[in-house]
Amino acid sequence: MPPARSAAASSAALRVFITGASSGIGRALAEHYAASGAQLGLVARRPALLHELSARWPGQVREYPLDVTDAAALRAAAADFVAGVGVPDVVIANAGVSVGTLTEHAADLDAIRHVMDVNYFGMAASFSPFIAGMRRAAGGRLVGIASLAGIRGLPGAEAYCASKAAAISYLESLRLELRDSGIRVLTICPGYIQTPMTEANPFPMPFLLAADDAAARIARLIERGSSYSVVPWQMAIVGKLLRLLPNAVYDRLFAAAPRKPRQQERR
Ligand SMILES: NC(=O)c1ccc[n+]([C@@H]2O[C@H](COP(=O)([O-])OP(=O)(O)OC[C@H]3O[C@@H](n4cnc5c(N)ncnc54)[C@H](OP(=O)(O)O)[C@@H]3O)[C@@H](O)[C@H]2O)c1
Repeated sequence: MPPARSAAASSAALRVFITGASSGIGRALAEHYAASGAQLGLVARRPALLHELSARWPGQVREYPLDVTDAAALRAAAADFVAGVGVPDVVIANAGVSVGTLTEHAADLDAIRHVMDVNYFGMAASFSPFIAGMRRAAGGRLVGIASLAGIRGLPGAEAYCASKAAAISYLESLRLELRDSGIRVLTICPGYIQTPMTEANPFPMPFLLAADDAAARIARLIERGSSYSVVPWQMAIVGKLLRLLPNAVYDRLFAAAPRKPRQQERR
């Protein structure tokens, strides 16, 4: 079985496993790595969209149509990828969902649980099956796509913000846990990226990036191996300022921020 190598090594031969590859940032990352000759394992629930990618990049893509909340399915996909291609150089846990939620509506509790399940548990379930092999290879990168929304809570986004805050803390714990293993754990916090997730946002999105631009920047950050990055960099400044604001000022500024529609309010 070929060992995992540094993501900075020959990008032409990289082995990359990406969840949420059927759309948006994940799809753009898949296209980016495929164009450089990488071998890809792609996960999402919509098989037709994964199939489109493997038809476009014949011989480079293994398709895994599954739900990231299904840890057993992810474990089987990881085993198939390692057996067929090798231990990945990069695993990108990118699958995510975003929906407005309001705790006062009992009906939203299922959505709150689901968002946490996909955005946080799905990330852990995506990394878990690869860690032993990466440890043996003493290399590889585990990349979590979190969000700037995990820095502070936003009204009506209780589930999404909490899930991304959980992802940020989780990734930091894992980074420390794996510090001496040769495996690097990277946290990437996108600001606003133009994807199906953001197309219905009823508010202005500063420094909005096209998905392929975001993917190229994320791939560079992965190659560089920085432990924590915000994309685009301008939003890192916004994130730092948000962290510094005292609650009294933050609440005044953000209490009336426009909200993402709840599931029941969509369509
Ligand atoms: N766009 C932004 O501005 C932005 C900002 C910050 C962070 N992010 C994060 O970036 C990541 C990608 O988002 P995006 O903007 O590219 O959104 P997107 O276009 O809606 O893509 C989300 C991807 O996740 C997959 N997915 C969702 N639930 C899944 C599940 N249960 N199992 C497997 N795959 C699942 C979807 O595929 P299927 O539906 O086919 O399963 C799709 O491929 C997310 O984690 C998101 O939170 C995005």
